[in-house]
Amino acid sequence: MTSLSGKSVLLVIGGGIAAYKCLELIRLLGKEGCKVVPLMTKAAEQFVTPLTVASLAGTKVYSDLFSLTDETEMGHIQLSRAADLVVVAPATADLMAKLAHGIANDLASTALLATDKSVLMAPAMNVRMWRHAATQRNLKTLIADGVLIVGPNDGDMACGEYGPGRLAEPDEIVAAIRASLATHPRVLAGKKVLITAGPTREPIDPVRYISNHSSGKQGYALAAAAVDLGAETMLVSGPVHLPLPPGAQVMPVESARDMLKVVEREVPCDIAIFTAAVADWRVESAANEKIKKSGKDAPTLILSENPDILKTIASLKSKRPKLVVGFAAETENVLEHAKAKLASKGCDLIVANDVSAKGDVFGSDQNAVHLVSANGVESWPRMSKAHVAEKLMAHFAKLIS
Ligand code: C5P
Repeated sequence: MTSLSGKSVLLVIGGGIAAYKCLELIRLLGKEGCKVVPLMTKAAEQFVTPLTVASLAGTKVYSDLFSLTDETEMGHIQLSRAADLVVVAPATADLMAKLAHGIANDLASTALLATDKSVLMAPAMNVRMWRHAATQRNLKTLIADGVLIVGPNDGDMACGEYGPGRLAEPDEIVAAIRASLATHPRVLAGKKVLITAGPTREPIDPVRYISNHSSGKQGYALAAAAVDLGAETMLVSGPVHLPLPPGAQVMPVESARDMLKVVEREVPCDIAIFTAAVADWRVESAANEKIKKSGKDAPTLILSENPDILKTIASLKSKRPKLVVGFAAETENVLEHAKAKLASKGCDLIVANDVSAKGDVFGSDQNAVHLVSANGVESWPRMSKAHVAEKLMAHFAKLIS
């Protein structure tokens, strides 16, 4: 894990109600020995006072582009370059728009344009502002320009609405800062990686469903590894109990058909990795009301086959991702089944693992995988899922380079 001790962060605080959370962020970073130089927009000063920020950071707050004292102490160009990383939290729609369009009309936007360091933005705004086509366009531009993004999260908003737009939690921002300062070469910068993860839930009625034991750990670890390598990372996730990987855009889904819809919307992309344990069958006609015990026979469920997401995407013509990777969880004859799957699904690579009791993979933090492709089989020793993910992403990056 990258240490933050001795590092320095220029923290640009935007003017939004979530600005109060930057106080906790400053505290957490300080606890890890990371120096925080705060830069506040005029609007941010309406939400938290510079005095509070300065007291927690233990250093002065910069806010004025034309301050003679600030410019003689530390010019705005130097301010933008002295830190190891520039963090914008909360990143308002306004700050995102300014950086996406190269506007520099106050100290914050000038520093963002003048810096030669990586910029990590933690957006926070009203859900409609976040979903607005202009903000989404700016987000795409920023990602393509190499700006790192953490959050926003889904949830209740201060304005009374619900949805994406909440500032990532301070500990998530710290994790994203750590990832941004890691010394991995950003070989996937400008590339889009799509990952499916977790189980799907197929409804029987509004309160019951069919699902499986997939923990989503390997898929989430791959998403974190893709973010570390600089990729625009889309994680289409079934219901799991895992912290969101900072920097990835997480799209929660329930059923296989929902998952397919979201995946189809997100292609084309450079790399698509299908780790999800998609339920093979769904109940043909799920009941609209809870099925009651009638006292007579138990109900009969008629199942129909779910779409094969991997196969559908691998057989696309113009929108096919450059690299399509499937996973094969097998309990016996792992390699034979994986080779057959490579052909039947039409993907470029199968990552196979043994999920029998002796394999001890489901829910575990460890995994032993075999890479099966047209070039043959490569078997890796047992290691942590995080390490498997790092090695796999580096391997996939090479394959598309
Ligand atoms: O056929 P099987 O489920 O063993 O194939 C496993 C691979 O296919 C995994 O990569 C899984 O994510 C993908 N898959 C899928 N859609 C399905 C079933 C499996 O994407 N309906």
